[in-house]
Amino acid sequence: MKTTGAVLRQAPGEWELVELDVEEPRQGELVVEMRAAGLCHSDDHYAKGDAPVASFPFVGGHEGAGVVIGIGPDTPGWEIGDHVALSFLPVCGRCRWCSTGHQNLCDMGRFLRDGTRSDGSYRMWLDGEPAAQMCGLATFSRHTLVDVAAAIKIDPELNLEAVCLTGCGVGTGWGSAVNSAAVHPGDTVIVMGVGGIGVNAVQGARHAGASHIVAVDPVALKREVASRVGATETFTTMDEAIDLAHSVTNGQGADAAIICTGVLTTDDVRQAFASIRKAGTVVVTALGHADTDVAVNARELTLYQKRIQGSVFGESNPLTDIPLMLELYRSGRLLLDELITARYSLADINRGYADLHAGLNVRGIIVFD
Ligand SMILES: NC(=O)c1ccc[n+]([C@@H]2O[C@H](COP(=O)([O-])OP(=O)(O)OC[C@H]3O[C@@H](n4cnc5c(N)ncnc54)[C@H](O)[C@@H]3O)[C@@H](O)[C@H]2O)c1
Ligand SMILES: [Zn+2]
Ligand SMILES: [Zn+2]
Repeated sequence: MKTTGAVLRQAPGEWELVELDVEEPRQGELVVEMRAAGLCHSDDHYAKGDAPVASFPFVGGHEGAGVVIGIGPDTPGWEIGDHVALSFLPVCGRCRWCSTGHQNLCDMGRFLRDGTRSDGSYRMWLDGEPAAQMCGLATFSRHTLVDVAAAIKIDPELNLEAVCLTGCGVGTGWGSAVNSAAVHPGDTVIVMGVGGIGVNAVQGARHAGASHIVAVDPVALKREVASRVGATETFTTMDEAIDLAHSVTNGQGADAAIICTGVLTTDDVRQAFASIRKAGTVVVTALGHADTDVAVNARELTLYQKRIQGSVFGESNPLTDIPLMLELYRSGRLLLDELITARYSLADINRGYADLHAGLNVRGIIVFD
């Protein structure tokens, strides 16, 4: 079938709307008509050239929700009209990671880099050229073809605009606090950068019972929304957050600092490392340039037993945690509608990313009409 999608032809580059050919679904595949897609910073890393793109043209988007309109042969368990959240991490259910409760590390996740199927083949085409699908998804396309391993069937009553956020931003942020930082009741937690990911780390820290949830962001709108969803204190700089953390912990420092800045820098990690107490945890959720290294004081690392924990999708398990988050949303304990600060048509995607950089959005989304 023919569809319209936003692609990069080069990096750095802008998103360009093109007509794409989408193949017929094969066994274990679904055609999804997108209803909403989130403008996560990770797509922008590809557009800006922060992260290497394996091949062009590259169809963007890895946070989305839609409706199943095509099902491959011999693909049981699916019906036309099913509503799905698309997970940027597929879950094969069989690899070492899936079978030990680490679905976020599923071996099928190599799509992340190449944007192909696991055998290296493509399903979307632009003027006869194979088009890579970000994370095997390509949610910036009106229609896409995905592996069932990346589709989570959800209650059709749920609002697909809110659902779309659970495919990346919610699980990544929420899980960074609940799973990766293992926040405990009474903890003091610093969240550095409260955009679409960090704002959910704030909500995760609240659910885990933190007493002080300190949100740091230079942008006033982000601090306001962070306060609305659970931040107890907000600051524009890490220095102020570190002072607060010391003042409420007898000078010990924060139990955890979660880094959700737009483009990770070495300095972000240094500041977060300085903010935590002995045996505290720095969670590195933000992504940086391909050649960014982390450098911290080695004696402090050893003698203060500090922990630096990388985190992908907040160590969440898509198959169980996306439904869990939607249940928290349905019961009013996880706020998602409040995070959507602007809606764009697909044609306005570059404006959406310009707004992200201008600090105008917590999460902007594309709505397909
Ligand atoms: N690990 C994962 O699984 C995963 C998944 C999705 C996104 N990410 C990454 O998470 C990061 C955040 O993504 P996002 O969509 O929320 O981006 P965003 O641009 O919406 O939010 C980043 C926020 O950081 C703030 N910021 C920038 N520098 C800062 C600093 N020095 N101190 C405090 N705040 C600062 C910005 O003002 C902005 O509000 C990106 O690097 C993204 O690629 C990681
Ligand atoms: Zn993302
Ligand atoms: Zn797996």
